[in-house]
Amino acid sequence: MNVPVLPNDLSDVVAHDSAHVWHHMFQHKALETKDPRIIVEGKGMRVWDQHGKEHIDAVSGGVWTVNVGYGRTTIADAVRDQLVKMNFFAGSLGSVPGAIFAEKLIDKMPGMSRVYYSNSGSEANEKAFKMVRQISHRKYGGKKYKILYRERDYHGTTIATLSAGGQDQRKGEYGPFAPGFVEVPHCLEYRNQYPNAEDYGQACVDAIEAVILREGPDTVGAICLETITAGGGVIVAPKGYWEGVQHLCEKYDILLHLDEVVCGVGRTGEWFGYQHYGLKPDFVTMAKGLASGYAAISATVTTEEIFDLFKEDHEDPMSMFRDISTFGGCTAGPAAAIENMRIIVDEGLLANTNAMGARLENNLRALQDKHACIGEVRGKGLFWGAELVADRTTREAAAEQKVKAVVDTCMADGIIIGMTNRSLAGLNNTLCLSPALIATEADIDAITDSIDSALTRVFQ
Ligand SMILES: Cc1ncc(COP(=O)(O)O)c(C=O)c1O
Repeated sequence: MNVPVLPNDLSDVVAHDSAHVWHHMFQHKALETKDPRIIVEGKGMRVWDQHGKEHIDAVSGGVWTVNVGYGRTTIADAVRDQLVKMNFFAGSLGSVPGAIFAEKLIDKMPGMSRVYYSNSGSEANEKAFKMVRQISHRKYGGKKYKILYRERDYHGTTIATLSAGGQDQRKGEYGPFAPGFVEVPHCLEYRNQYPNAEDYGQACVDAIEAVILREGPDTVGAICLETITAGGGVIVAPKGYWEGVQHLCEKYDILLHLDEVVCGVGRTGEWFGYQHYGLKPDFVTMAKGLASGYAAISATVTTEEIFDLFKEDHEDPMSMFRDISTFGGCTAGPAAAIENMRIIVDEGLLANTNAMGARLENNLRALQDKHACIGEVRGKGLFWGAELVADRTTREAAAEQKVKAVVDTCMADGIIIGMTNRSLAGLNNTLCLSPALIATEADIDAITDSIDSALTRVFQ
């Protein structure tokens, strides 16, 4: 690995950051007595901070984003070339990279047909919510307006997406929320709410059906679910769950909106997480790995059937989707996304994700055998969580400070891992891993070796 040449003295940068930047998801009191960490450079799986210290990034930019790794000059070149030629025009007109990327994306999503561009995962989800609401008005006299969401899921940071958020600590103190969003129970078997049920997957589906019946099926327009819950604890749905959800959607004429902001674009070893389950969604939303953070881009992808609903009453000026996202017209996003997708294809990164994901899973299961504090290991592809407990028998969650101590110890060792962060009170106890899809065996082993050593130091 070529160590980058960093400027000798970044103390001005550190001072400006300390004085003026308000960091995301960060309690700033700590920075009254220490310097902020500035990430200065990245290459492949590695990043360097202001002191030149090297880290392996096991979380793809902190929030499961940089799927193809850092320092991709071909993406930067594609973006630069596009910006010089044509940087922006409102999305009411077309752009060359927007059209080309839409075709390439739809090619990976059989059954889907239309791509609506915006620039964050939250926004992509809001677009779907607005489409559902407009369909309710135009097709169901405004009645089928409710949107179901699931406990422990996260769909974004805006007030509307928080209204569809199933994490009490992300929502707390930001209400009141938008009406018409209704929660259904989580589907994490490790925290089984139905201990007497024979089939946990079916019990979860029954619980959703009970909510639909309670609310009135003719009032429920859509259900919005993360295909694999990310920040709520890396939750892979139990057996039978997805078949059941698809069946409920058909039975009650409910649109299926899958949030693939995290698990889309290769993260799970398929192009999209829902493709593991043979699902037929009406909406798929994506962001993060779509351009690996080289440019801001998100997409709300839907079917031709949904799209047609917005043009059939074409003489009515209100019938079209009256929505705009200014920066959805930036061409840097689709230009970066085209090259990002080419890299995934040409470098065989789906296959690598499956192979390295299997290695990561094996390593984590070996750690579970060794450390009693690992209650459960869950995930798919290069998207894994390890839930830490104080007691394996009672499944009492490990204290948050201890989980944080593991993350901090790994960081001190030069390995950046994540944890569920201000998600659920008393349950921020899952270590989160989402290394770039380019990870090698040596990278995976270095990550799990560091966790092994940190667990020993923190828990014994
Ligand atoms: C599953 C999921 N959906 C939506 C979002 C929101 O994306 P953004 O932060 O780009 O608005 C996130 C962000 O972490 C997410 O994890």
